Amino acid sequence: MPEVVPQIEPHTTNVYGVHLLKTRHRFIRKLRSLAEPSSHGDKIWPANFLLMDFLSEYPPKSRTRLMDLGCGWGLVGIHCALKYGCKVTCVDKDAAVFPFVTVHATLNQVKVGLLKQTYDRLTRARLGEERTVVGADICYWPELVKPLCNLVERALRSGVERIVIADPGRKPFYDFSDLCGEKYGAVSRGWYAREPGRVYGDVLEIIRKS
Ligand SMILES: C[S@@+](CC[C@H](N)C(=O)[O-])C[C@H]1O[C@@H](n2cnc3c(N)ncnc32)[C@H](O)[C@@H]1O
Repeated sequence: MPEVVPQIEPHTTNVYGVHLLKTRHRFIRKLRSLAEPSSHGDKIWPANFLLMDFLSEYPPKSRTRLMDLGCGWGLVGIHCALKYGCKVTCVDKDAAVFPFVTVHATLNQVKVGLLKQTYDRLTRARLGEERTVVGADICYWPELVKPLCNLVERALRSGVERIVIADPGRKPFYDFSDLCGEKYGAVSRGWYAREPGRVYGDVLEIIRKS
């Protein structure tokens, strides 16, 4: 069974080794009054925990360069920096999520890079700086399928070795997953997280063929 990590202060919890601020925490309440994420980056989505569980089973290479795409509050990236020493860049189109990333990175005593960018404008040159790309719940609208497929193509061509995307089971994600299966032989698996409670969904893994 997972070890119980004591709360570091009221309204915090620890999931897969990462300290999280609950929505009642005064810092979150304050940040919410100052920054308003506009595209669903307004909370920690459960697919974060699916991805943390999957990466605990199949971890990234130690100290590898890793991008947390559509990072929201950046918990997956922070998890990878903390547990595997990854050099992490958290990417989101919405800069209003970054104060939430920064407060969690500080709480967990890790540093992560921040980049405001959209899927379609991440160039081959920029993607080529990474070896692993991860994302949780980032394909939730039909119009995100094509930009994400194109991003996967650019990423694999530019040297990214592994892409892992977790999802609670939305239709656009399954469409994306099917396209990646046809094109790259990518495999999607049903998965569940055990922390902070059971969360079910799917994890798609795309591996670059050498
Ligand atoms: C449902 S939230 C998930 C956030 C985080 N990964 C999580 O699991 O908590 C989706 C995130 O993707 C970002 N996003 C949506 N479309 C994007 C795009 N085209 N380029 C970059 N980020 C995008 C949103 O701003 C939002 O933060």
